[in-house]
Amino acid sequence: MRRVRVFLMALVLVFALGGCARRPDPAPQPDRSVVVGFSQLGAESSWRIANTASMVDAADKYGFALMMENANQKQELQIKSIRNFIASRVDVIVFSPIVETGWDNVLNEAREAGIPVILMDRMIENADEGLYTAYVGADFYQEGRRAGEYLVKKADALEAVHMNIVEISGTIDSTPMRDRRRGFLDVIGEDTRFTVIASVSGDFLRSKGEECMSELLSRFGAEGIDVVYSHNDSMTLGALDVLDRQGVRPGKDILLISVDGEKEAVQALKDGRVNCVVQCTPALGGSVMALVQGLVNGRSIPKISHPVESAFSDLDDPAGPEPEGF
Ligand code: AHR
Repeated sequence: MRRVRVFLMALVLVFALGGCARRPDPAPQPDRSVVVGFSQLGAESSWRIANTASMVDAADKYGFALMMENANQKQELQIKSIRNFIASRVDVIVFSPIVETGWDNVLNEAREAGIPVILMDRMIENADEGLYTAYVGADFYQEGRRAGEYLVKKADALEAVHMNIVEISGTIDSTPMRDRRRGFLDVIGEDTRFTVIASVSGDFLRSKGEECMSELLSRFGAEGIDVVYSHNDSMTLGALDVLDRQGVRPGKDILLISVDGEKEAVQALKDGRVNCVVQCTPALGGSVMALVQGLVNGRSIPKISHPVESAFSDLDDPAGPEPEGF
């Protein structure tokens, strides 16, 4: 009888210990009660599509409910979305301003409603710092500088005496357009080897990049253009299509400097059809949601966060790091 009792006690112990060992760690509970209102500006480029995916993924990982609206490149729709988020009493508003001006009224309304606003990707002009809580996005001025620094080195390597540059810019009055231009000109501005002979806007769209390149070629001819500085890969890829059709060798007859780092442009760089790709990462979702979490937890958060970025070009050591592409 005693032996049976000992056996039963041992059995109970084994189950109890086994139960302890198997009990899984409590999974982090998604806090779907936190609602983030997100106004994306459009779907104009591969960059934007990857950026939207990064926001959706990160909100999901943090377990936040994402109320997302896409403005199709229209500022008035972004303003409407922000008003909608205010009326819905979301916890945090995140938006990527299509242009830098025209936000004061709606952001004052958000401030009065006590809803923090995180600017993602793009900035607003002369912002009263109280109108937004934080900015997460690239340092576009440095991106422009990297493009200029590449060109100076390339001109040195080619022992170029003079180069005519055409610029295909992004959306007029957007932060990347303004700052990529400013950074580029600040580097090449004093160097008499360079002349920017034209600047046209391709609105960050592949189709418009194509149109711009056609127009520039008919205005100057291929022999009148040495360098294309394009503010994003989508427009660069459009320009490549035109150069190919017209029998101009991109990367050789005309140098191409691009910004972003999407897979197709990275491949063109490897193929010698694009000379430099300045990196601009679309993967901003994780940093944005970390800030949302900070706000929800009542912590103070940094006002400005920039991702670490670099540039890749035909002057790099071929054994060096390769861009991943998105
Ligand atoms: O604001 C970031 C820019 O917007 C990217 O360089 C471009 O591809 C996008 O459309």
